[in-house]
Amino acid sequence: MEGRLINPVSGLPDTKNAPEADSSVLRVWGGHSLRGHVKISGAKNSALVLMTGALLCSGDCRIRNVPRLADVERMAQVLSALGVKIHRDGETLDVNAREFTTSKAPYELVTQLRASFFAIGAILARLGVAQMPLPGGCAIGARPVDLHVRGLQAMGAEVQIEHGICNAHVPGNKGRLKGAKIYLDSPSVGATETLMMAATLADGETILDNAAREPEVVDLANFCNSMGAKITGAGTSTITILGVSNLHSTDYEVIPDRIEAGTFLTAAAITHSELLLSPVVPEHLLPIIAKLQEMGVNVVEEAPNCLRVLPAAVLKAADIQTLPHPGFPTDMQAQFMTLLALAEGDSLINETVFENRLRHASELNRLGADIRVKGNIAFVRGVHSLSGAPVLGSDLRASAALVVAGLAASGETTIKGLQFLDRGYDRLDLKLQQLGAKIERVREVEADIAIATATNTVQPA
Ligand code: UD1
Repeated sequence: MEGRLINPVSGLPDTKNAPEADSSVLRVWGGHSLRGHVKISGAKNSALVLMTGALLCSGDCRIRNVPRLADVERMAQVLSALGVKIHRDGETLDVNAREFTTSKAPYELVTQLRASFFAIGAILARLGVAQMPLPGGCAIGARPVDLHVRGLQAMGAEVQIEHGICNAHVPGNKGRLKGAKIYLDSPSVGATETLMMAATLADGETILDNAAREPEVVDLANFCNSMGAKITGAGTSTITILGVSNLHSTDYEVIPDRIEAGTFLTAAAITHSELLLSPVVPEHLLPIIAKLQEMGVNVVEEAPNCLRVLPAAVLKAADIQTLPHPGFPTDMQAQFMTLLALAEGDSLINETVFENRLRHASELNRLGADIRVKGNIAFVRGVHSLSGAPVLGSDLRASAALVVAGLAASGETTIKGLQFLDRGYDRLDLKLQQLGAKIERVREVEADIAIATATNTVQPA
């Protein structure tokens, strides 16, 4: 990182002014056990949506425990473009939306970051009008926004999608949305959050049925309530929001990232290591811990916010079906596929949340895994070992899964596609290094030279 420009908001290399930052790769030498304590950062999916929630209030919002992520930087850029003042000091983000007057979000940024679309609810609630580019397709599936749109329409908004932009406005009622009874066809996290924010400042009561129950939805409700909103039932399938006329300043701390914690749990399990993780909310990790226990990995609650994972002699096969919370999280599916690749026996993974989220299987096979994919199902036949190779991450969690694989594979694994990893992990490589992993971030060109040299020195028999 030395000599690079650091972005003041994310704390990451400034990708705009340092084009080489995007082309860095990770080199991992597997087979080393990990030990010690890892500090879990604030939850990406909470921090991003809390930042959009800050649009609902015209006072100062202090958000603590904000992770250093490329996605946070992008979200900050979206908010700045709307006229919001943002200042970061370490893990504390101060957001002031007093002068937020622009209803048009910038196309180039929103199309890169799906969570920024969720701001449409807050923008519409505050200004009565919003112009939000569609978030665009994503590597893991089509990810439409129909549930967001239908919910806003039920609350009185007129919405038209033209030329890739979602134009919404509230006719009459002084531009104020009206409370409504809304049933979500599926418990979409983003739609629940968009509509919850919109309803916070609406006229009357909104009831969201079949709402998402993810911990990040609860965090957003708690954040809004800390500003004076009246939201009850978050964490259940029915959320009731009684609209208020305005919200006040707050000082709020983001919950720990359950997916980052889960990723470290799989890193410990695959290297047969003992690790301490904190802060965590063990309840948020129940489906992940249950699956690890089934595989023979013991996880104990050392303290109310601290977990100890113990090494397992053998990893056992297990079947996984991803589901909305409290089911097994789709955001942990790729990391578990890596773990199951080295388990004893056959496992089956059924990805039911996203339609195209098994692309890491082929990269794991490059490392020696035995995985067959048919539709949304992966058949994983456990192998005894993996061997390092150059691989490419296809999305955020797929990249993390390849890092976990690299920790166990013999020799060197080179992982490209770090622009995905840096979106959602707060300095994963540095944290792993501190735990004893042999991992380094280098410029792609240096890694390519190393790969070419290694290839040239291994002569075919
Ligand atoms: C959020 C998380 C993401 C996680 C996902 C599922 C953020 C920023 N991202 O994404 O990390 O993987 O939840 O836990 O919080 N759908 C529709 N219509 C809609 C909205 C969603 O059909 O209007 C579908 C999606 O295509 C997908 C499923 O519903 O198949 C679940 O998506 P959703 O829960 O909305 O995920 P996100 O909120 O985008």
